Amino acid sequence: MHPSFLPLLCCPKSGSDLSLSGEQLDTAGLIVSGTLKSADGTTYPIVAGVPRFVSTEDYSESFGYEWQRWSRVQFESENVGTRMTGHTTRMFDMVTGFTADKIAGKTVVEFGCGPGRFIDVVARRGGRAVGLELSSAADVARKNFAGNSNVCIVQGDILNPPFKSGAFDFGYTIGVLHHTPSPDTGLQKLVSTVKSGGTIACCVYESTGGRGLYDSPAVLAYRRFFNSLSSHWRHTLARWYAFFSAYVLYVFFAPAMRIPGLSVIAGWLSAQVFPGVYYLRDARWRVLDTFDAITPHYATTHTKEEVVDWFTKAHCSDIKQSPFGSTSLTAVK
Ligand SMILES: C[S@@+](CC[C@H](N)C(=O)[O-])C[C@H]1O[C@@H](n2cnc3c(N)ncnc32)[C@H](O)[C@@H]1O
Repeated sequence: MHPSFLPLLCCPKSGSDLSLSGEQLDTAGLIVSGTLKSADGTTYPIVAGVPRFVSTEDYSESFGYEWQRWSRVQFESENVGTRMTGHTTRMFDMVTGFTADKIAGKTVVEFGCGPGRFIDVVARRGGRAVGLELSSAADVARKNFAGNSNVCIVQGDILNPPFKSGAFDFGYTIGVLHHTPSPDTGLQKLVSTVKSGGTIACCVYESTGGRGLYDSPAVLAYRRFFNSLSSHWRHTLARWYAFFSAYVLYVFFAPAMRIPGLSVIAGWLSAQVFPGVYYLRDARWRVLDTFDAITPHYATTHTKEEVVDWFTKAHCSDIKQSPFGSTSLTAVK
């Protein structure tokens, strides 16, 4: 991490400033290791360029596994000339509206950055990007931006973030808060780290009454099953199923979903028995997104009214639905 990011950090327990000691810098002047110390003496290590405010991945272990295995599949640069060209950038634009003219030179935080596909968009637009991530995907993200002095990856908890209040110009969280035990608290914490007048974007799973992938009976049952297993078997069996769904079941489901009559049967089968991301035309994305749907420990779904309520309670104004969907909203602090 570049030393210029240090003033944004604070002790997640007390909110006090942190002092750095024992630091080692690389040839580009980035901090590789050292110790951060709060006023009350609590210490937090910087290991492999990442300040660490948690000592375990906690419930996010499946994400650590997922992002180590598929570390760059959704990065724009990996999809040039494929059917998924532009997908990540379009999604970022629809959810946040953070165009280059808005964020160039600004400090932008992402809560739950995973390996950093959206951090990549921010960095390419000239923003100073900070990604907060609970799982070991923090290390994956750090590697994805190795040597980039405009990107800082922090391992910590959204519900107890190690950032000063009002530290950032913009903040966003995409596909993350529903994976925490308290999404509304997560949004409040995100808002608190953004300056007054700054824009915040939040996108969570939508409640569909069981009609959508993420709250379908099949996905709920698969999640319950995989979460009853040891992490070795959870990851192994879920990965096997994700490949089976993405390569074998897809051959039936993709065309069947488009044929009137058959689409009803295919829809019922995918909702009740064989969940999968059959609408994506890239097999690597299907594997990743199927694994992502069936393994998380927490995965709640929400309504637009709930997200509006979270923003309202966080004292935001100008709350608007984004073009991405009913549970993707932006607001101004
Ligand atoms: C579905 S992934 C989305 C990653 C990224 N936003 C994207 O769309 O590519 C959700 C991420 O949120 C992270 N996460 C979940 N709970 C978290 C928490 N309490 N604090 C920080 N990160 C968290 C997970 O580890 C995971 O990497």
